Amino acid sequence: MVIVGHVDHGKSTLVGRLLYETGSLPDGKFEQIQTVCRRRGMQFEWAFLMDALQAERDQNITIDVSQIWFKTRRRNYVIIDAPGHKEFLKNMVSGAASADAALLLIDAHEGIQEQSRRHAYLLSLLGIRQVVVVVNKMDLVNFDQAVFTRIEADYRDFLRQLNVQPLQFLPIAARDGVNMVTPDPRTSWYEGPTLIQMLDDLEQPVPPADLPLRFAVQDVYRFDRRRILAGRIESGTLRVGDTVVFAPSNKESVVASIEVWNAAQRSAVSAGESVGITLREQIFVERGSVGNHIDQMPIETNRFRARVFWMGDRPLSLAKKYKIKLLTQEIECQLASIDQVIDASTLEASSAIRRTVEKNEVAEVTIQSRGPLVMDNYDRLQTSGRFVLVDGNDVAGGGVIFGGVYLVHKQVKSSNITWSESHIRYRDRVERNGHPGLVVWMTGLSGSGKSTLARALEKELFERQMQAYVLDGDNMRHGLNSNLSFSPEDRVENIRRVAEVAKLMADAGVITVTSFISPYRLDRVRAREIVASSGVEFVEVYVSAPLEVCEKRDPKNLYRKARAGEIKGFTGLDAPYEIPENPELVLETSEESAEACLEQLLEFLLPRLRVD
Ligand code: ADX
Repeated sequence: MVIVGHVDHGKSTLVGRLLYETGSLPDGKFEQIQTVCRRRGMQFEWAFLMDALQAERDQNITIDVSQIWFKTRRRNYVIIDAPGHKEFLKNMVSGAASADAALLLIDAHEGIQEQSRRHAYLLSLLGIRQVVVVVNKMDLVNFDQAVFTRIEADYRDFLRQLNVQPLQFLPIAARDGVNMVTPDPRTSWYEGPTLIQMLDDLEQPVPPADLPLRFAVQDVYRFDRRRILAGRIESGTLRVGDTVVFAPSNKESVVASIEVWNAAQRSAVSAGESVGITLREQIFVERGSVGNHIDQMPIETNRFRARVFWMGDRPLSLAKKYKIKLLTQEIECQLASIDQVIDASTLEASSAIRRTVEKNEVAEVTIQSRGPLVMDNYDRLQTSGRFVLVDGNDVAGGGVIFGGVYLVHKQVKSSNITWSESHIRYRDRVERNGHPGLVVWMTGLSGSGKSTLARALEKELFERQMQAYVLDGDNMRHGLNSNLSFSPEDRVENIRRVAEVAKLMADAGVITVTSFISPYRLDRVRAREIVASSGVEFVEVYVSAPLEVCEKRDPKNLYRKARAGEIKGFTGLDAPYEIPENPELVLETSEESAEACLEQLLEFLLPRLRVD
């Protein structure tokens, strides 16, 4: 895990205390530093202890990622540390270090500062999913609950905008060990876990062998009559007898044998191993192909969004040609847009419109390659979610992929297609409209009030001179989706199409309000992915009302029909509705008036529609 926080917010104290509490300090070290402090008439500081350990480490080896180990009763941990943000980003993007979890440290006394915001950005940049926010130095604010609550509320809101979902906010005083291992009476108002408990509750990272299979083909050799595909298992496990689909051509065949250099044949190989395999049917596979299992296919695209860390002396420029290397694939590419640029040392964002990215800057960009590339989102699979950019002959940048959409393999039927680029930039549309595009995704039972609220919102926004439009379930099913029924598969397709349409409309600058039951959680997650892939914000609104209430309202007389057996598979009765787990907003339409709900919607949306 990584610990990020302002130097003064007590990072070394926290680490020192963690080592101490878990009995992970070298024997006698604590006592030794205590004695030194006493002799010099200084108060003991955990930071001294960390400095002493650091000094010892520096004498032994020099590596740019320092690693600090400790263990609890449950498992082993390693804290990875880097001298600064620049090094940290470089290590993470290049794969020299990777983290499964992060602790964000905030000083209760100082509160959230610009730095805390930038640190959160650092985590969102790297797609670290498990984030715990530790509010330190609670002793300096007399363990005041109000201070803690205010920090939590403010920071939560900010993190949400970055799509970072903190697992927990924890009040501690690292120096005195408050809430590190045992709950402390001075924070009796806090009911959550202690820090060590929290760490032990973090999800165990999936072992690389259990991740989706990615077999990167390096070469194809001919031996007598056999063709051997040589390559490396980047993630997952490959077994003899497996059906493997090779992207991007998507030809499939069955693994006949696994050959290992100078060793007996194997029946299975896993992540990290280099192997040769033979296939039952001869299909065309070449260097750069990636072998996968059919139910866990990678993304295949020639246009994607990425965060690039640039190290080249010449700036990274729009429309200039570079070579991208991803697994064993190599292909020419160029930047289609530069969406945001951040200074890697200070994490300061530049808001100016940029045509270049300079050395030591991190940028969110859209990349277009000359042909299809096989990849993953970095937060899903790191090795296939990472690439380098080559400028001339030099590796000049590294990047991680985000926001790509996974398609169901069998459904993709179009080929030989390339994305055409508009001459009008999205931000020009935003400027003309005076607001960004946005997708407000309303979900809930039939009769819960989605359409009523969607219409009211549309009118309200329109009257404020904004571009707004409602995509309504019944309306869509009159036209575009008239060939879809209410079977589970057709509902999935219904939502996929709506998400794609909403994405296009929002990209055109429109505030798009969708009103669909959208009963499946997974579909809503995919809708969010689809919309987010074009950089538009997605706001999920759960329009909630008890089934009895919806049934009593029965505006279209459908519940009655369904009860009478005239409609089969009616949502809420004999078809499921999966309640949203983490919507941006919940509106209780049985408890509050439509006006009050609309008020809540506007309160949430209007700040997001502002353009500075
Ligand atoms: S979804 O499940 O695929 O998201 P959608 O929002 O498009 O549904 O359509 C729901 C509307 O279709 C309901 O408001 C209702 O008017 C109508 N409808 C007809 N049959 C059903 C059914 N079996 N289940 C739910 N809604 C139905």
